[in-house]
Amino acid sequence: MRLFIAITFPPQVKQQLADYADAIGALAQRANITRRDNFHLTLAFLGGALTEAEACAALAKVKGTSFKLYSGKAGVFKRGGDEIHWLGLKSSAELASLYEELNAALAEAGFAPEKRSFSPHITLAREVRGLSGELPPPPRFIVPVTGLSLMNSERVNGLLTYTPMYEKLQL
Ligand code: 2AM
Repeated sequence: MRLFIAITFPPQVKQQLADYADAIGALAQRANITRRDNFHLTLAFLGGALTEAEACAALAKVKGTSFKLYSGKAGVFKRGGDEIHWLGLKSSAELASLYEELNAALAEAGFAPEKRSFSPHITLAREVRGLSGELPPPPRFIVPVTGLSLMNSERVNGLLTYTPMYEKLQL
């Protein structure tokens, strides 16, 4: 399994992100645009390092409090000749403390936390090439965070699909 733990978004935020990702696609010669259903914020990528049961048990132990997540600036990672376009989230004490709580619970379950620093971002488009013209301003939104989801990344009928396996609804 390719498990990860994410904050999911309401439909209207997914639509704003999809519209912006479409604008990137329209200005690029080539781009692999994130599907509307797939927009999320990853807090931890587990891959196959924990079983689903271990990951659920760890998630159940997280004691966060609900808070609001604010959209931030758009940015680009270079990958060879390609670009990955993303939208950042504003860092906040609440997000940092949820991230720490989660990593502590995962570490107890035997998962080694990531060494690189957490840079909260939503991937909008991968393999972007030949972008010309000016992008519209990135979307602005606020996401109420009241839970965390354990997701599995899989191909369903050839489509990259993120399937919720367990939801910890109350922080
Ligand atoms: P990305 O969008 O920056 O690629 C499902 O694949 C989610 O897990 C995505 O949010 C993806 O982030 C993230 N992810 C995939 N592989 C990862 C890895 N090796 N390390 C950290 N995050 C990863």
